[in-house]
Amino acid sequence: MSLYERLGQDQGIRAAVDEFYVRVTGDPELKPYFDGVDMGRLRGHQAKLLIQVTGGPVQYDGRDLAVAHDDMGITGPDFDRVVGHLAGTLEDLGVAQDDIGQVGAALTAHRDEIVTAS
Ligand code: HEM
Repeated sequence: MSLYERLGQDQGIRAAVDEFYVRVTGDPELKPYFDGVDMGRLRGHQAKLLIQVTGGPVQYDGRDLAVAHDDMGITGPDFDRVVGHLAGTLEDLGVAQDDIGQVGAALTAHRDEIVTAS
């Protein structure tokens, strides 16, 4: 079974992404980054990226991650908070620790493209 399948395929990943952004935008430290953002579009792109990196049948078609996060001044601690919210979401959905680690590693691989402030 691929990681994509273990996460519940398209439906499971989209449900996780929905809950993830509820947590991210409910975090006072992170909320300001998302003011004025079209969250429906963002959820769609994030779901596609996750489906692609976990071995699913969808291609990410959003912007290059460095370009998308370019002018936000995202700090290392805020990046870690975002990854933490995804891990917490997956944990509460009953995803195995090894699988959470794999998803975390896939996202952390993009850290240098996303973090532009200290
Ligand atoms: C953990 C790794 C991360 C990944 C994989 C990721 C992924 C993405 C993706 C796929 C998009 C959509 C790009 C598009 O619409 O073309 C996006 C947009 C965005 N991300 Fe991230 N992101 C990450 C971390 C962060 C962090 C740490 C923050 C802020 C603290 C953040 C804030 C945003 C915002 C505000 C947008 C919307 C930009 C816009 O529509 O103008 N992201 N991200």
